[in-house]
Amino acid sequence: MSTLFKKGLFLTNERKIQEFYQHFQTYDEGFEYGSQLPEWFLRNWSKSKRWLLALLETNIPEIKAHRSAKDNSATLMQALLDIVEKETDKQRPNYGLLLLWASLSNAAPIAFWTLAFVLSHPDVHRAILEGMSSVFGTAGKDKIKVSEDDLKKLLLIKWCILEAIRLRAPGVITRKVVKPVKILNYTVPSGDLLMLSPFWLHRNPKYFPEPDSFKPERWKKANLEKHAFLDCFMAFGGGKFQCPGRWFALLEIQICIILILYKYDCRLLDPLPKQSCLHLVGVPQPEGQCQIEYKQRV
Ligand code: HEM
Repeated sequence: MSTLFKKGLFLTNERKIQEFYQHFQTYDEGFEYGSQLPEWFLRNWSKSKRWLLALLETNIPEIKAHRSAKDNSATLMQALLDIVEKETDKQRPNYGLLLLWASLSNAAPIAFWTLAFVLSHPDVHRAILEGMSSVFGTAGKDKIKVSEDDLKKLLLIKWCILEAIRLRAPGVITRKVVKPVKILNYTVPSGDLLMLSPFWLHRNPKYFPEPDSFKPERWKKANLEKHAFLDCFMAFGGGKFQCPGRWFALLEIQICIILILYKYDCRLLDPLPKQSCLHLVGVPQPEGQCQIEYKQRV
């Protein structure tokens, strides 16, 4: 959030963090229905949405004015506000809320899923720890800085994240048809909803052999240097509306996983959970609880 909006903007004290967390959780849980139904059907959701919008609204002037002290660069939120400059002031907090939701609700569960998949595959876990100690030395209490070069040496972590995304991709991506489109012999009329399921596409053995297995090494074939995923990998959507935060997401999750595994000795206390089928939009949550034990390395 500091990178996307402005450092220290929202989370100033413990009470505020708690309040933010509760409203964001309510907003996230009801998003799928709240974004489609009239708001008075979901009173709590609507209340949390208004709280988050008010928070963004108060902060818009500061978000707009802020420049990075280091190199005077703009944040992603500023770039977004510049693009929508012509829109009325009233809509600006809504763009902020879209960015807030899109950046947290998928990346945070994928960080969890990656960790859970890695911890439930001892060979992969061991290989990652070996790679990390060859880059950062013996894992432990020291503070580390993760450079771009370090990330290139730790490709297995990136493959694990992509494999976790493949297996826990959003259930559906929808598009409202604005002009009639011809697909094979069918014409889809305007106003209809087209839906594509990355979740099921990623389970097609024609494109992903042994589709239900966690196999990070399948990503060896992807030309990630050239920013290309594997064919038929659709977790971020496709075409001109695909997720603009996809490379940022991979970067932040990589750093998050490195820091956790460097600092803590982790193990799963529960079996790897299945994905919950409750929500189809966005990355699924785990079905039931999954505890992770972590001990600080000494
Ligand atoms: C693993 C994490 C993520 C996944 C799986 C994901 C997936 C998606 C998907 C499926 C869409 C809809 C694309 C479409 O409609 O065709 C989307 C849209 C979007 N994502 Fe992400 N996303 C992730 C992380 C992020 C992050 C970290 C950011 C911000 C930095 C972000 C910003 C956005 C925005 C702003 C949109 C709306 C784009 C639009 O409507 O044109 N996402 N994302």
